[in-house]
Amino acid sequence: VTIHLKDYTPFGWQLSDVHLTFHLAPRSTRVVSKIHFTPNPEAPAQDFFLHGEQLTLIRAAIDGVDVTPEVTEDGLRCAVPDGPFLWECEVEIAPADNTALEGLYMSSGMYCTQCEAEGFRKITYFPDRPDVMSVFTVRVEGDLPVLLSNGNSVQRGDGFAEWHDPWPKPAYLFALVAGDLVNHPDSFTTMNGRKVKLNIWVRPGDEGKCAFGMEALKKSMRWDEEVYGREYDLEVFNIVAVDDFNMGAMENKGLNIFNSSCVLASPETSTDDNFERIESIIAHEYFHNWTGNRITCRDWFQLCLKEGLTVFRDQQFTKDIRSAPVKRIDDVASLRGRQFPEDQGPLAHPVRPESFQEINNFYTATVYDKGAEVIGMLKTLVGDEAYAKALTLYFDRHDGDAATIEDWLKVFEDTTGRDLAQFKRWYSQAGTPRVSVTEDWADGTYTLTFAQTTRPTPGQPEKAPQVIPMAVGLLNPNGDEVVPTRVLEITEETQSFRFDELAARPIPSINRGFSAPVVLDRDSSSEERAFLLAHDTDPVNRWEASLLLGRDCLFAMITENAGPDVAWLDGLERVLRDRDLDPAFRAMMMGWPSQNEMAQVLFERGVTPDPDAIFAAQETLTQFKAERWADLLPSLAAEGTVDAAYRPDADQSGKRALGSAVLALTTRLDGGKAAQAQFESADNMTLQLSALGQLVRVGKDQDALAAFEAQWCKDRLVMDKWFGLQVGATAPDNVVPRATALTQHADFDWKNPNRFRAVLGAMAMNHAGFHRKDGAGYALLTEWLIKLDDLNPQTTARMCSAFQTWKRYDADRQALIRVQLERLRDKPKLSRDTAEMVARILGA
Ligand code: ARG
Ligand code: ZN
Repeated sequence: VTIHLKDYTPFGWQLSDVHLTFHLAPRSTRVVSKIHFTPNPEAPAQDFFLHGEQLTLIRAAIDGVDVTPEVTEDGLRCAVPDGPFLWECEVEIAPADNTALEGLYMSSGMYCTQCEAEGFRKITYFPDRPDVMSVFTVRVEGDLPVLLSNGNSVQRGDGFAEWHDPWPKPAYLFALVAGDLVNHPDSFTTMNGRKVKLNIWVRPGDEGKCAFGMEALKKSMRWDEEVYGREYDLEVFNIVAVDDFNMGAMENKGLNIFNSSCVLASPETSTDDNFERIESIIAHEYFHNWTGNRITCRDWFQLCLKEGLTVFRDQQFTKDIRSAPVKRIDDVASLRGRQFPEDQGPLAHPVRPESFQEINNFYTATVYDKGAEVIGMLKTLVGDEAYAKALTLYFDRHDGDAATIEDWLKVFEDTTGRDLAQFKRWYSQAGTPRVSVTEDWADGTYTLTFAQTTRPTPGQPEKAPQVIPMAVGLLNPNGDEVVPTRVLEITEETQSFRFDELAARPIPSINRGFSAPVVLDRDSSSEERAFLLAHDTDPVNRWEASLLLGRDCLFAMITENAGPDVAWLDGLERVLRDRDLDPAFRAMMMGWPSQNEMAQVLFERGVTPDPDAIFAAQETLTQFKAERWADLLPSLAAEGTVDAAYRPDADQSGKRALGSAVLALTTRLDGGKAAQAQFESADNMTLQLSALGQLVRVGKDQDALAAFEAQWCKDRLVMDKWFGLQVGATAPDNVVPRATALTQHADFDWKNPNRFRAVLGAMAMNHAGFHRKDGAGYALLTEWLIKLDDLNPQTTARMCSAFQTWKRYDADRQALIRVQLERLRDKPKLSRDTAEMVARILGA
């Protein structure tokens, strides 16, 4: 069944309050609900239908009288009185048998929940839709020491706890946790002087990994007060770490539940990247308290209303507390690496989709990351002050609402007087706009002409022009900035902008800060790129200039057997030698287009990508760099060395990032000696893992892998890294054999999403290894997806996107992939999640 945005109708009843009682038992949990329903005067007449899946109905009653509803696979229908009534219901569920990790399930002996998007219906019969909001009171009974739910604690005693959440919320924000847990407590005093208890709950043994997350939480709370004026609104804020979790984390009201990989951290077991990611996810979930919970979504088509905005907010937060340029480059790279392929392939969909079969398939890079870019563009267009005003109005006007994108845009229209009808196309039109640029120079006047097009995407053959805020600066040939950044507002298909009274023909720096998520098409000479690499004042475009040179260099190496572009490398070397530049920035400049990105570049330029050739060119280039910069590497390595005690802050982690980029080159020269030494002396995971990665790459990893395993075999999160790295970093030929062998390892717990992804996800991300000619990578992934689909549809469906770029490759590879996609499609009892993904990828 396909659900359409245009079919939205409100639910026929309102719920004043919901009372739930849980009698916990692994295979026979009883859930008793009591709900007051009142007819909704604003809704059309309709049957009384409650969602419910995989529930055993024990009893149902209306106003105290037993009733026998008509029960189907997806819910129940029942005759109800015309006026208000009390609904009482008891169901039985089996959390221990719930392998889908949706609804109430068990993870290493603890009970936990994941209800977004539609998991609550696996807990009890309920109108499981985000526009049905009510006040929940929850009683949890069970013989476990810690019993948690949303809101404030009302009562606790032997074998029970009662929770009350005063803020009306939809069912997807419900949460329950019960287990033998220990807490890392702290507190936070809000801007109005209210003291809030904070807890991070973990399994015994993990207490030592909570401090960093707690600091991140407190920083997030303060930041949201200072920057958005948002105060926390309950007496307590609980976070729980869970080992088995499909996604990163979940913003349940007052009780955030996290994949343990996204909250637990210590210097010995976590890398700098882990720390930064944890900090941003904690912030993200916390920020949802206002953008998501206090103001929620009317329906799931509006998902970007909360996700795009909350990603945008967490990105702002990271920029404020770390390095803003480095964070922006990170986000741009990840947008291009994850969202662009989605937007340019068979899975392309608008930021606000118009139809879906399974909403879980739409928690995508497009909804999240392009959704955040759209908000960034809005802010650029209206300015910071108007943005702040609009947000204040949004919170005032919609607090307590289940809102829409229309509501969101309206607050901007009302504060600025702007008409945002055309801007709204960013929400409805899928596909990455392509903007080509031509220029003109005469008599001191420089003209830039932009032409925009967006290619057809599934279901959208025609595209209309969008509003594109294009930040542009002009440099003169001496490298001075003659026109500082200004935002050109492109609204037409073709549009020109003039710059007058210039003394010399300028060099343009276009789409500064990546002000619009578009593909820029511009025939610029490599001299000009080298010039920008040397002189641009915008760090994103400086990085971009190098990236474009790197693309062209690899392109020529692959298609014309050319040698590396020495001019580019010399320009890059000057950047690397510039000690005034942040080490983190320089580390980023040492990166270059990924193999996956090169595959897309080749495809766009009409060349069928050969994964082996791309890999070989990358290898040649890296070796060449290492040799050319041999003299520079020791001093860079010294800059990348930290003597002080480990801190996961921007400063230290930037240095270590530089150090690890240098190590990757040094290893080309010494065959792994420096890496071996670093591996042996490392006292933090960042250094240990970057060294291990190099040893894996050069194939001198046997002893190191064994030592690492012996050291960390008791730590699940570190072992995920061990599993992932040896597949992700090894030579292409080894990838499938290693992945196969690891799936036979005693610790390959394939039911655990983190472990499954560590092996199979790493395989799919190793470009040349996954796309090996004989199709063994495709077959291995599919074999495991078929196996996992019976247990965990969500994780299976997500991983199908490994095939989304299949049309780039040669006919033989396409045929091999098609066989696997069809094998998956034809699997008996294929889940709705996976079926939808496979059909979309196949283009059915
Ligand atoms: N709202 C969560 C977040 O953005 C993600 C939950 C996704 N869950 C799912 N089943 N798709 O942090
Ligand atoms: Zn979110």
